[in-house]
Amino acid sequence: MKGHKILIVGGAGYIGSHVALAFQEAGATVVVLDNLSTGRRENLQPGMELIEGDLQLPGLLADLFRGHFDGVIHLAAQKAAGESMVKPELYSRQNLIGSLNLLEAYAKQPQSRLIFSSTAAVYGNPVRLPMDETHPTAPVNFYGFTKLAIEGYLDWYGRLRGMQFAALRYFNAAGYDALGRIQGLEKNPQNLIPVVMEVAKGWRKNLQVFGNDYPTSDGSGVRDYIHVSDLGRAHVAAYRRLIETPGNLTVNLGTGKGYSVFEVIEETRRVSGRPIPHEVVPRREGDPPEVYASAQLAKETLGWQARESDLSNMIESTWNCYKNLP
Ligand SMILES: NC(=O)c1ccc[n+]([C@@H]2O[C@H](COP(=O)([O-])OP(=O)(O)OC[C@H]3O[C@@H](n4cnc5c(N)ncnc54)[C@H](O)[C@@H]3O)[C@@H](O)[C@H]2O)c1
Repeated sequence: MKGHKILIVGGAGYIGSHVALAFQEAGATVVVLDNLSTGRRENLQPGMELIEGDLQLPGLLADLFRGHFDGVIHLAAQKAAGESMVKPELYSRQNLIGSLNLLEAYAKQPQSRLIFSSTAAVYGNPVRLPMDETHPTAPVNFYGFTKLAIEGYLDWYGRLRGMQFAALRYFNAAGYDALGRIQGLEKNPQNLIPVVMEVAKGWRKNLQVFGNDYPTSDGSGVRDYIHVSDLGRAHVAAYRRLIETPGNLTVNLGTGKGYSVFEVIEETRRVSGRPIPHEVVPRREGDPPEVYASAQLAKETLGWQARESDLSNMIESTWNCYKNLP
């Protein structure tokens, strides 16, 4: 990939910084556009250029695309499903309008290629498992709605402007770079693993487990966790695929299996050597017992499958970032 110049929007964030690292390791020149609202400058590697800027500034985007990029990876978004239900205006502005500004500036360029961070939330509650890409899309939160809407825009801009795209539907991102090159903690994390880490550190008193009477192996909820370094490699594979093969892609990025809340707690206790106080509280309305992907299409189209996503890897690499903090 030497000589390819890739713009990574949201590349200072948790997943974006791992995606940026994967492109740099593949030989690309990486430019990051990020407003540093939740991203961190220190997540970038030496040799990466940071443009501190916002998708809400169409003038800045127009200037940026006077230069040439071989591909754009778009990760910038608000991502808290619960918050999206009380702040739909924020999610409309940041996710929808921000993405439309990017499409307006970029899609008309010759040979435009865009890889978009979509999510399993576009499916809503599972009607069958594993969830493959033909599963009905019926988001149950506004966040998932915005991501599905953007997928729709990608499809139309593909048809009308000739842009190639890959929409990558991530399941639950977890873990950190195994070599410790990225250590910046997520700001205001909401996902289970960082919250369990905060309990292990004593930053939170205890963990609430929402339900222990689900029809799962141990009664707690089960989700598909995917290591961020596996996500990084998948983006590089998707970019290569867009270059080599005409057409677009909408693909799940998951492992095909899930871990339960109690398994995450137990593994964190083992790895950290710290107690994880927790209390079982009633189920949250609308939470399905189990969610996991079919990873088959990603294997067939990208030649990609998860390599680093076993639970101990994800917990150990995350604990390595937390353990030395005060
Ligand atoms: N974390 C997950 O488990 C998960 C799962 C599915 C999908 N996703 C999607 O992956 C993407 C990245 O998620 P993340 O977990 O790394 O979140 P993050 O908050 O760490 O990263 C988002 C990055 O975008 C930047 N940003 C936000 N708004 C911007 C704007 N208007 N202009 C410029 N930069 C802006 C932030 O500063 C941050 O660096 C998001 O689109 C999210 O919806 C995440």
